[in-house]
Formats: sequence, structure tokens, C-alpha cells
Amino acid sequence: MSELYTLDDLISRDRLDAGHDKPAKLAVIGHPVAHSSSPRMHQSALDALGIDARYIKIDVPPGHVAEAFARMKALGFYGCNVTVPHKLDALGVCTDVHPDARSLGAVNTVRFDETGTHGFNTDGPGFVRAIVEDFDFTLATFNVLVAGAGGGAGQAIATQCAIQGVPRLVLVNRTFEKLGPLVERLRALGPTTEVIALAFDDPRLVALSQESDLIVNTTSVGLKEGDGSPLPQDCLRAGLCVYDTIYQPAVTPLLAAANATGARVANGLSLLLHQGVLAFQHWFPHTDPLPYMREALGMQTARTS
Ligand code: ATR
Repeated sequence: MSELYTLDDLISRDRLDAGHDKPAKLAVIGHPVAHSSSPRMHQSALDALGIDARYIKIDVPPGHVAEAFARMKALGFYGCNVTVPHKLDALGVCTDVHPDARSLGAVNTVRFDETGTHGFNTDGPGFVRAIVEDFDFTLATFNVLVAGAGGGAGQAIATQCAIQGVPRLVLVNRTFEKLGPLVERLRALGPTTEVIALAFDDPRLVALSQESDLIVNTTSVGLKEGDGSPLPQDCLRAGLCVYDTIYQPAVTPLLAAANATGARVANGLSLLLHQGVLAFQHWFPHTDPLPYMREALGMQTARTS
């Protein structure tokens, strides 16, 4: 388990690196961030590739992203990952933001160099790779239903689906009002995609779920013990692909129910892996951290056929 740092530790190299033989040069910032699996995954790739750097966790309170970036840059960090609740703030603080990250409305990866603070989003492209790996399908061919599309993760995944040009995108959210601005953005982004917005109690939910090829859960329902499934059982069917962005627990009530109906299921570990690989390659182009990260997460090697 890597140590948890705070902004106060980003004062000097002496303070940050005391007792360590490698300098901290990468981090994930979040609040809370103690649970993050990113250090395990990235450190294993750094070590295997012989890069002399530590990847640490820094708990940054809301409103302090600019300060965190400035301090890391001054200390010579290569970059950082950004997690909840800072992904939107990070977008405003970077000196330049990749167009995809701007479309997704969030930055989860930052690279520091002499020319500035560069923001990227690897969650969207990481999701595309995760779907190919888990279901052997290109996202662009799927009719997709996103449960929890009004949340941060849901908006990013829904946006990526529109960028890929999926034929139909059904957005479901408990708080229906949160979907309005997203629907407008998505229609502008992917004019060929049919976008439908629903609340969970909409009578069309079951039929639209049944007509979907892929259901993605981006709600937090399933994280806590005692949680149920965010979708009723009759939304599921044999042959449907069901992806839960939650990976702890590995089998959520939604995935258990989907599995029992004969649906194909996958959890969020592949998204964690692929967004991590793409982030690493922003810092170290032309490297292949994938096998080391996969092993660090305890994942089996992907199908090759
Ligand atoms: P974020 O910071 O990304 O918005 P969040 O507050 O944990 O994260 O919510 C993520 C998603 O889970 C949201 O879509 C949220 O629905 P609301 O927009 O209505 O809040 C959804 N969510 C959380 N608890 C839920 C529940 N019990 N039933 C259905 N959706 C839920």
C-alpha cells in the first residue's frame, strides 16, 4: 500500500522523498484518494520498465487543484492522474487541453513540461478499448444504454459513445433534469446518433433496455454492501452485454443478475487498466506498460482470438 500524501508534503524534495530510494515524479490527486489502485498499477510498470520514479497518492481538497499542479510542476513531476472530484477543475487549470478531453468535459491525465500543463482524458478512449477486450465488439456498432448518465463517469462514457457514433444512445438518470444539457451537447457532437433521455421510472425503460446491445452502469449503486441492482431484472436478456464500471466488488448485484439471465458481463477493471495504460503513454510515449499493469491488477491475459 503506497503512502498517502497531502499538499503540505509538496513543499520540498527532502520532505517528499525522505526514506525512499526513488523520487516521487507521478501521482494521483483526488479526495478521497486512499482507495485508489492507480499507484499499484503504475508503480509496477515504472519498475518493470526501469524508470526511476515513484507514483504516489495525494489527497487534495476541493478547490486546490491549481496549487497542487503548481507545486508538482515546481518539484519536477512528469505529470499526474486526476480523480473525483477534480476532473472538471483540472480542465480549467491546464494551459492546454486536448480536444477530446474538452468534449468529454473532464481531464483525468496531466503532463507537465517546459511548455506548460497539458490536459488529456483517457477514460473515454480507455472505455473503447475495454469494450473491445471484454466483448470483442467495436463500441461504434452498439446500441448503448448508460445508467447514471448524469454523473461524472456517465457523462464521459455517454460522450465517448456519441464520438464513436453509436446508432442509439439511451441515457438514464435518477435526477432526470441533469440530462438536459448533456443531451444537447451529444446531439451536436454525434448528429447520427439517436439520443433518448429517461428517468429510471420511465415506462419505456424495459423496452429500450431490451433493444440495447450494451448496458453500462455508471451509477454508484452496487458499490456498497446491501446495494441492489440499478436496473430491474426485466431490462436484462440473454446475449446482452452488461458492463459495470464498478470493480469492487468484482461481481455487483447487476452483474450477478445479468449473468443469471445469460447476458455477457464485465466489470470496470478493464477500464481502470486501459485508461491507465493510455495515461502512462502520455508521460512515456512508445512504452508498453500493459502487461505489467494487467498483472498488478491481478487480471488474466486478454483473449488473443
Ligand atoms: P458524480 O460525482 O460523478 O456525479 P455520484 O454523485 O456518485 O457521482 O453519482 C453518480 C451517478 O450515480 C449519478 O448519475 C447518480 O444519480 P443522480 O444524478 O440522480 O444523483 C447515480 N446514483 C447514485 N445513487 C443512486 C441511486 N440510489 N439510484 C440511482 N442512481 C443513483
